[in-house]
Amino acid sequence: MPKLAVTGKGGVGKTTISSLLAYAYAELGGNVLAIDVDPSPCLAAALGFPPELVTDLVPIAKMEELILERTGAKPGTTGGYFKLNPRVDDLPDRFSVMHRGIRLLELGAVELGGSGCICPESAMLKSLISHLVFYRDDLLIMDMYAGVEHLGRATAGMVDAMIVVVEPGKRSLGTAEQIAKLARDIGIRRLLLVGNKMRNAGDLDFLHRFSPGLPILGTLPATPAAVEADVQGVPLFDAVPEMADAAREMVARLERELKEA
Ligand SMILES: Nc1ncnc2c1ncn2[C@@H]1O[C@H](COP(=O)(O)OP(=O)(O)O)[C@@H](O)[C@H]1O
Ligand SMILES: [Mg+2]
Repeated sequence: MPKLAVTGKGGVGKTTISSLLAYAYAELGGNVLAIDVDPSPCLAAALGFPPELVTDLVPIAKMEELILERTGAKPGTTGGYFKLNPRVDDLPDRFSVMHRGIRLLELGAVELGGSGCICPESAMLKSLISHLVFYRDDLLIMDMYAGVEHLGRATAGMVDAMIVVVEPGKRSLGTAEQIAKLARDIGIRRLLLVGNKMRNAGDLDFLHRFSPGLPILGTLPATPAAVEADVQGVPLFDAVPEMADAAREMVARLERELKEA
Protein backbone atom coordinates (compact mmCIF):
# COMPACT_ATOMS: atom_id res chain seq x y z
CA MET A 1 0.00 0.00 0.00
CA PRO A 2 1.33 3.45 -0.88
CA LYS A 3 2.88 5.81 1.64
CA LEU A 4 1.88 9.38 0.95
CA ALA A 5 2.91 12.72 2.41
CA VAL A 6 0.75 15.79 1.92
CA THR A 7 2.60 19.11 2.00
CA GLY A 8 2.18 22.74 1.01
CA LYS A 9 1.94 26.25 2.39
CA GLY A 10 -0.11 26.81 5.55
CA GLY A 11 -3.83 27.03 4.89
CA VAL A 12 -3.85 25.67 1.34
CA GLY A 13 -5.89 22.63 2.33
CA LYS A 14 -3.42 19.88 3.27
CA THR A 15 -5.55 18.63 6.13
CA THR A 16 -8.74 18.84 4.09
CA ILE A 17 -7.17 16.85 1.25
CA SER A 18 -5.60 14.32 3.62
CA SER A 19 -9.06 13.68 5.07
CA LEU A 20 -10.62 13.30 1.62
CA LEU A 21 -7.94 10.86 0.46
CA ALA A 22 -8.22 8.89 3.70
CA TYR A 23 -11.94 8.34 3.15
CA ALA A 24 -11.51 7.57 -0.53
CA TYR A 25 -8.91 4.90 0.32
CA ALA A 26 -10.94 3.56 3.26
CA GLU A 27 -13.85 3.06 0.89
CA LEU A 28 -11.68 0.68 -1.13
CA GLY A 29 -11.43 -1.52 1.93
CA GLY A 30 -7.75 -1.31 2.88
CA ASN A 31 -6.33 -0.33 6.24
CA VAL A 32 -5.76 3.40 6.30
CA LEU A 33 -3.36 4.97 8.73
CA ALA A 34 -3.66 8.75 8.85
CA ILE A 35 -0.84 10.55 10.59
CA ASP A 36 -1.15 14.11 11.80
CA VAL A 37 2.32 15.63 11.80
CA ASP A 38 1.14 19.16 12.52
CA PRO A 39 2.25 20.54 15.90
CA SER A 40 -1.32 21.76 16.37
CA PRO A 41 -3.19 18.72 15.13
CA CYS A 42 -6.53 19.12 13.35
CA LEU A 43 -6.83 16.10 11.10
CA ALA A 44 -9.19 14.45 13.62
CA ALA A 45 -11.60 17.34 13.17
CA ALA A 46 -11.35 17.27 9.38
CA LEU A 47 -12.08 13.54 9.48
CA GLY A 48 -15.10 14.29 11.65
CA PHE A 49 -13.98 11.86 14.32
CA PRO A 50 -16.36 11.92 17.31
CA PRO A 51 -14.99 14.26 20.02
CA GLU A 52 -15.28 11.56 22.73
CA LEU A 53 -12.96 9.38 20.66
CA VAL A 54 -10.25 12.00 20.29
CA THR A 55 -10.22 13.50 23.79
CA ASP A 56 -7.64 10.94 24.90
CA LEU A 57 -5.52 11.25 21.80
CA VAL A 58 -2.13 12.69 22.76
CA PRO A 59 0.59 13.47 20.21
CA ILE A 60 3.50 11.06 20.65
CA ALA A 61 6.00 13.93 20.95
CA LYS A 62 4.13 15.13 24.05
CA MET A 63 4.36 11.81 25.90
CA GLU A 64 7.27 12.61 28.18
CA GLU A 65 7.06 9.44 30.28
CA LEU A 66 6.95 7.23 27.22
CA ILE A 67 9.87 9.02 25.57
CA LEU A 68 11.89 8.71 28.77
CA GLU A 69 11.00 5.03 29.10
CA ARG A 70 11.94 4.22 25.50
CA THR A 71 14.95 6.43 24.88
CA GLY A 72 16.35 6.62 28.39
CA ALA A 73 16.30 10.41 28.41
CA LYS A 74 13.85 13.17 29.13
CA PRO A 75 12.42 15.08 26.17
CA GLY A 76 13.98 18.51 25.81
CA THR A 77 17.40 17.34 26.90
CA THR A 78 20.33 17.34 24.53
CA GLY A 79 23.90 16.22 24.81
CA GLY A 80 23.21 13.26 27.10
CA TYR A 81 23.01 9.63 26.13
CA PHE A 82 19.84 8.18 24.74
CA LYS A 83 18.78 5.41 22.42
CA LEU A 84 18.67 6.39 18.77
CA ASN A 85 16.51 3.40 17.87
CA PRO A 86 13.95 3.11 20.63
CA ARG A 87 11.27 0.45 20.44
CA VAL A 88 8.19 1.85 18.72
CA ASP A 89 6.39 -1.11 17.14
CA ASP A 90 3.64 -1.14 19.75
CA LEU A 91 2.88 2.58 19.54
CA PRO A 92 0.67 2.80 16.44
CA ASP A 93 -1.92 0.44 17.88
CA ARG A 94 -1.68 1.70 21.45
CA PHE A 95 -1.89 5.41 20.82
CA SER A 96 -4.16 5.76 17.84
CA VAL A 97 -7.91 5.87 17.48
CA MET A 98 -9.93 4.15 14.82
CA HIS A 99 -13.12 5.29 13.13
CA ARG A 100 -14.79 4.14 9.90
CA GLY A 101 -11.76 2.18 8.78
CA ILE A 102 -9.31 4.99 9.40
CA ARG A 103 -6.71 4.77 12.14
CA LEU A 104 -5.47 8.15 13.30
CA LEU A 105 -2.19 8.84 15.03
CA GLU A 106 -0.91 12.23 16.12
CA LEU A 107 2.84 12.76 16.12
CA GLY A 108 3.14 16.35 17.27
CA ALA A 109 5.98 17.49 15.10
CA VAL A 110 9.53 18.05 16.12
CA GLU A 111 12.32 18.65 13.67
CA LEU A 112 13.19 15.32 12.07
CA GLY A 113 15.70 16.52 9.51
CA GLY A 114 19.33 15.53 9.39
CA SER A 115 20.63 18.71 10.94
CA GLY A 116 19.58 20.59 14.03
CA CYS A 117 17.70 18.81 16.75
CA ILE A 118 19.18 15.59 18.00
CA CYS A 119 17.06 14.95 21.01
CA PRO A 120 15.12 12.06 22.53
CA GLU A 121 11.78 13.10 21.05
CA SER A 122 13.19 13.38 17.53
CA ALA A 123 14.84 9.95 17.87
CA MET A 124 11.48 8.59 18.92
CA LEU A 125 9.57 10.12 16.02
CA LYS A 126 12.22 9.19 13.48
CA SER A 127 12.07 5.58 14.63
CA LEU A 128 8.32 5.67 14.54
CA ILE A 129 8.13 7.08 11.01
CA SER A 130 10.65 4.53 9.71
CA HIS A 131 8.67 1.80 11.40
CA LEU A 132 5.43 3.00 9.83
CA VAL A 133 6.98 3.33 6.42
CA PHE A 134 8.90 0.05 6.43
CA TYR A 135 7.00 -2.38 8.51
CA ARG A 136 3.31 -1.69 8.22
CA ASP A 137 1.36 -2.56 5.14
CA ASP A 138 -1.32 0.06 5.69
CA LEU A 139 -1.98 2.86 3.33
CA LEU A 140 -0.20 5.76 4.99
CA ILE A 141 -1.22 9.39 4.69
CA MET A 142 0.97 11.90 6.48
CA ASP A 143 -0.59 15.32 6.90
CA MET A 144 2.54 17.46 7.14
CA TYR A 145 3.11 21.05 8.03
CA ALA A 146 4.83 23.39 5.59
CA GLY A 147 8.25 22.29 4.45
CA VAL A 148 9.75 18.85 4.09
CA GLU A 149 12.83 19.04 6.30
CA HIS A 150 10.81 17.39 9.04
CA LEU A 151 10.33 14.33 6.91
CA GLY A 152 14.05 13.67 7.08
CA ARG A 153 16.44 12.18 4.61
CA ALA A 154 16.26 8.74 6.15
CA THR A 155 12.58 8.25 5.55
CA ALA A 156 11.99 10.57 2.60
CA GLY A 157 13.16 8.01 0.08
CA MET A 158 10.56 5.59 1.35
CA VAL A 159 7.59 7.81 0.67
CA ASP A 160 5.97 6.64 -2.56
CA ALA A 161 4.53 10.00 -3.45
CA MET A 162 4.55 13.47 -2.05
CA ILE A 163 1.46 15.49 -2.75
CA VAL A 164 2.06 19.22 -2.90
CA VAL A 165 -1.09 21.22 -2.37
CA VAL A 166 -1.37 24.66 -3.91
CA GLU A 167 -4.10 27.27 -4.23
CA PRO A 168 -4.38 29.87 -6.95
CA GLY A 169 -1.76 32.47 -6.11
CA LYS A 170 1.95 32.98 -6.48
CA ARG A 171 2.67 32.53 -2.79
CA SER A 172 1.52 28.94 -2.51
CA LEU A 173 3.24 28.08 -5.79
CA GLY A 174 6.42 29.70 -4.49
CA THR A 175 6.24 27.43 -1.46
CA ALA A 176 5.49 24.47 -3.73
CA GLU A 177 8.62 25.24 -5.71
CA GLN A 178 10.74 25.28 -2.55
CA ILE A 179 9.16 22.05 -1.36
CA ALA A 180 9.72 20.41 -4.75
CA LYS A 181 13.38 21.37 -4.73
CA LEU A 182 13.94 20.17 -1.21
CA ALA A 183 11.99 17.00 -1.83
CA ARG A 184 14.16 16.17 -4.84
CA ASP A 185 17.28 16.95 -2.84
CA ILE A 186 16.31 14.45 -0.18
CA GLY A 187 15.35 11.82 -2.71
CA ILE A 188 11.58 11.83 -2.86
CA ARG A 189 10.82 10.05 -6.07
CA ARG A 190 7.38 11.19 -7.06
CA LEU A 191 5.86 14.62 -6.59
CA LEU A 192 2.31 15.44 -7.56
CA LEU A 193 0.43 18.70 -7.45
CA VAL A 194 -3.12 19.19 -6.21
CA GLY A 195 -4.79 22.51 -6.98
CA ASN A 196 -7.24 23.40 -4.23
CA LYS A 197 -9.72 26.27 -3.94
CA MET A 198 -9.93 26.60 -7.71
CA ARG A 199 -12.49 29.21 -8.75
CA ASN A 200 -12.58 29.02 -12.53
CA ALA A 201 -10.79 28.03 -15.74
CA GLY A 202 -8.44 30.98 -15.26
CA ASP A 203 -7.17 29.42 -12.05
CA LEU A 204 -6.49 26.18 -13.87
CA ASP A 205 -4.53 28.09 -16.53
CA PHE A 206 -2.58 29.79 -13.80
CA LEU A 207 -1.80 26.45 -12.22
CA HIS A 208 -0.57 25.02 -15.51
CA ARG A 209 1.56 28.05 -16.28
CA PHE A 210 3.19 28.33 -12.90
CA SER A 211 3.25 24.76 -11.70
CA PRO A 212 6.83 23.92 -10.85
CA GLY A 213 7.08 21.21 -13.47
CA LEU A 214 4.96 18.76 -11.53
CA PRO A 215 2.19 16.57 -12.85
CA ILE A 216 -1.24 17.62 -11.58
CA LEU A 217 -2.97 14.86 -9.63
CA GLY A 218 -6.25 16.71 -9.44
CA THR A 219 -8.05 19.88 -8.55
CA LEU A 220 -10.78 20.78 -6.09
CA PRO A 221 -13.15 23.70 -6.40
CA ALA A 222 -13.33 26.54 -3.89
CA THR A 223 -16.58 26.09 -2.07
CA PRO A 224 -18.22 27.57 1.02
CA ALA A 225 -19.34 24.00 1.75
CA ALA A 226 -15.75 23.24 2.81
CA VAL A 227 -15.95 25.90 5.49
CA GLU A 228 -19.45 24.81 6.42
CA ALA A 229 -18.35 21.19 6.89
CA ASP A 230 -15.64 22.47 9.23
CA VAL A 231 -18.19 24.52 11.19
CA GLN A 232 -20.49 21.50 11.46
CA GLY A 233 -17.66 19.12 12.31
CA VAL A 234 -18.60 16.70 9.53
CA PRO A 235 -16.15 15.21 7.03
CA LEU A 236 -16.12 17.07 3.74
CA PHE A 237 -16.17 13.63 2.09
CA ASP A 238 -19.70 13.12 3.42
CA ALA A 239 -20.89 16.69 3.06
CA VAL A 240 -20.02 17.35 -0.58
CA PRO A 241 -20.39 14.51 -3.11
CA GLU A 242 -18.30 16.38 -5.73
CA MET A 243 -15.41 16.51 -3.29
CA ALA A 244 -15.75 12.80 -2.59
CA ASP A 245 -15.77 12.08 -6.33
CA ALA A 246 -12.72 14.27 -6.88
CA ALA A 247 -10.94 12.37 -4.09
CA ARG A 248 -11.89 9.01 -5.63
CA GLU A 249 -10.50 10.19 -8.96
CA MET A 250 -7.25 11.27 -7.35
CA VAL A 251 -6.91 7.88 -5.68
CA ALA A 252 -7.55 6.11 -8.97
CA ARG A 253 -4.93 8.25 -10.71
CA LEU A 254 -2.45 7.69 -7.88
CA GLU A 255 -2.95 3.96 -8.15
CA ARG A 256 -2.24 4.10 -11.87
CA GLU A 257 0.83 6.31 -11.41
CA LEU A 258 2.28 4.09 -8.71
CA LYS A 259 1.63 0.93 -10.64
CA GLU A 260 3.60 2.32 -13.58
CA ALA A 261 6.55 2.96 -11.29
N1 LIG B 1 -11.80 23.71 -1.55
C1 LIG B 1 -11.97 24.56 -0.55
N2 LIG B 1 -12.86 25.58 -0.65
C2 LIG B 1 -13.02 26.44 0.37
N3 LIG B 1 -12.37 26.40 1.54
C3 LIG B 1 -11.47 25.41 1.72
C4 LIG B 1 -11.22 24.45 0.69
N4 LIG B 1 -10.28 23.59 1.14
C5 LIG B 1 -9.96 24.01 2.39
N5 LIG B 1 -10.67 25.10 2.73
C6 LIG B 1 -10.59 25.85 4.00
O1 LIG B 1 -9.30 26.40 4.13
C7 LIG B 1 -8.87 26.38 5.47
C8 LIG B 1 -7.52 25.68 5.57
O2 LIG B 1 -7.67 24.32 5.22
P1 LIG B 1 -6.73 23.18 5.85
O3 LIG B 1 -7.09 21.92 5.18
O4 LIG B 1 -6.80 23.23 7.34
O5 LIG B 1 -5.31 23.71 5.35
P2 LIG B 1 -3.84 23.29 5.81
O6 LIG B 1 -3.93 21.94 6.45
O7 LIG B 1 -3.05 23.28 4.55
O8 LIG B 1 -3.36 24.34 6.75
C9 LIG B 1 -9.96 25.68 6.26
O9 LIG B 1 -10.74 26.64 6.89
C10 LIG B 1 -10.73 24.93 5.21
O10 LIG B 1 -12.08 24.78 5.57
MG1 LIG C 1 -3.26 21.28 8.35
